[in-house]
Amino acid sequence: MRQRMVAGNWKLNGSKELTRSLLAGITTGLHDDVSADVVVCPPFVYLEQAAAALADSCVKLGAQNVCAETSGAFTGEISADMLREVGCQYVIVGHSERRSLYAESDNLVARKFVAARDSGLTPILCVGETLNERERGVTEQVIARQLQEVISLAGAETVASAVIAYEPVWAIGSGLTATPDQAQAVHAFMRERLRDSGAKADACCMLYGGSVKPSNAAELFSMPDIDGGLIGGASLVVGDFLAICRAA
Ligand code: G3P
Repeated sequence: MRQRMVAGNWKLNGSKELTRSLLAGITTGLHDDVSADVVVCPPFVYLEQAAAALADSCVKLGAQNVCAETSGAFTGEISADMLREVGCQYVIVGHSERRSLYAESDNLVARKFVAARDSGLTPILCVGETLNERERGVTEQVIARQLQEVISLAGAETVASAVIAYEPVWAIGSGLTATPDQAQAVHAFMRERLRDSGAKADACCMLYGGSVKPSNAAELFSMPDIDGGLIGGASLVVGDFLAICRAA
């Protein structure tokens, strides 16, 4: 049985009070009706507070980004070891907002993936096409290129042992969710690429992200190659996030 997971990406949202109240609501609201692994990814400055709040719960902690370097003259950066030290087990790498807004190349994403893996963190590797790329019919080429850069640097088996999140850029924050069939098609393609690269692809946890809500989560997560979700806006609303966790 593959790992199932719901991870909340808080993005640039939060405060000490919001961290307290969100995590109190999530930890007290999680009951036996949730079998998926639950991960929360607050902004860096709230990670230590979050780790303390999650100390006695099954909820795991992740970060939203990591430096590809381990130490040195990289002003403003955060290393994978630093994330481990404050209690992170996961880290998102290659989110489309970092690729587009901060010019993160496929190679930089691959190096961040390796840095995370080398420190014992589990990367949540984000891939996804833009609306223009989908409309031009090159979705699979884009996903293959993004995956191959990491496979080439880290090895197929290492990639398959991480978490991969398919997040169509056009579905993020837009309310335009991919249909279950659209998402399943890309997840199946990603699994086939891993299999063709010689990895145990069937064991890889693959998440869908992009306007997941309580109303659409169950149908998305029922697809054979979708193992859960990477949740943005809905992860900031306790009731919605718990409902999505229950759907996984
Ligand atoms: O990383 C998850 C995020 O990109 C999805 O955002 O708001 O569409 O759930 P949202």
